[in-house]
Amino acid sequence: MKAIVFHEQGGVEKLRYEDVPNPKINRDEVLVRVRACAVNRLDLRARRDRPEVAPMPHILGSDVAGDVAEVGSEAFTSSTDASPPACWEAEGLGLRAHIKVGERVVIFPCINCGYCVDCINGDESLCDNQKVLGFQTNGGYAEFVKAPERNIIPISDEISYAEAAAVPITFLTAWHMLITRANLNAGEDVLILSAGSGVGSAALQIAKLSGARVFATASTEEKLARAKEFGADFAINYKEVDFSDVVKQLTKGRGVDVVFEHVGADTFEQSINSLAKNGRLVTCGVTSGNMARINIRYIYQKQLSIIGSALGNKRELVKILKLVEQGKLKPIIDQILPLEKAAYAHRLMEDRNHFGKLILAPNPAI
Ligand SMILES: NC(=O)c1ccc[n+]([C@@H]2O[C@H](COP(=O)([O-])OP(=O)(O)OC[C@H]3O[C@@H](n4cnc5c(N)ncnc54)[C@H](OP(=O)(O)O)[C@@H]3O)[C@@H](O)[C@H]2O)c1
Ligand SMILES: [Zn+2]
Repeated sequence: MKAIVFHEQGGVEKLRYEDVPNPKINRDEVLVRVRACAVNRLDLRARRDRPEVAPMPHILGSDVAGDVAEVGSEAFTSSTDASPPACWEAEGLGLRAHIKVGERVVIFPCINCGYCVDCINGDESLCDNQKVLGFQTNGGYAEFVKAPERNIIPISDEISYAEAAAVPITFLTAWHMLITRANLNAGEDVLILSAGSGVGSAALQIAKLSGARVFATASTEEKLARAKEFGADFAINYKEVDFSDVVKQLTKGRGVDVVFEHVGADTFEQSINSLAKNGRLVTCGVTSGNMARINIRYIYQKQLSIIGSALGNKRELVKILKLVEQGKLKPIIDQILPLEKAAYAHRLMEDRNHFGKLILAPNPAI
């Protein structure tokens, strides 16, 4: 098959379009013919220097939508007589009982062990043995990818492959941050940093769907206009002003209830300053660096909470996909590029001019 491979970490020039053997599935795995694979910022770091990357040579790609091409002998498929329990169906978790060759699917990108204390407690996102598809396994910058059968989720015909590929990492992360970790409520004020980012553009919609009032930041007027199109109540160009000052003005000195952080070093102090009393800052990333200044006095005087969040759980992704199917959440696609243009897609993301997701699509004729 054709794939984008890197043999050593480094710049975009390390990404090569090559012929590699098709993945061989184990008995409990499924082979998926990739129709669309989203690019994530994690891919840039993985290509550059993240030490967790395996195997080498490596194929990136955590967000995959496609068709089931082969099902392992022990995977629970439609050829099995057993029907899924009704409660699984109700929760959307019994979907795996329908997996069959040719089915349109999306892959839940967190490959969790299923037997550690956190997995058993239903907190899969804390699994110590977790591998992220395309990061600690080969991923979807290829014509085929394999994944455990329990990670395969069928998608309805209402959702295109590109839309489905735009969902997992960004919407799952944003949902886990805002709904599960920060417990965002209707009527609250939420500040979403860099709302044109993959996670930010998902968070914007989740926050609006939750009935929150949204303050969005971005570095260009064009991105701010798009953020408004997608429902932001206020859009702030943080390159021109201290966004915490503007947030304070717009909230009559109060601040926001929740800050959605993923930028890190450059913004963390202003993010803390933007919070109202009892406010929650929820963070998943450090795009601009790990180390931040914090005025500790603000934290205890205003009784703030700083909440960490990483990826999410399969049940959350199933719920998100239902909302996408119902048209209540809309994956935002910046552009779809042929697979062989992966290096170009990485450059576009590095130049940070995109709004929403960049999607790679292998040759659909193969
Ligand atoms: N822990 C998790 O579970 C998890 C999951 C997904 C993503 N993340 C993290 O969340 C962050 C965003 O990911 P993404 O895939 O949404 O990224 P993305 O689509 O590439 O968006 C990143 C945006 O951040 C803004 N930005 C601000 N300062 C920047 C800087 N110094 N360098 C580059 N960009 C900067 C830019 O928008 P403006 O120019 O408008 O500011 C840029 O477009 C990343 O750090 C990623 O690793 C974490
Ligand atoms: Zn586990």
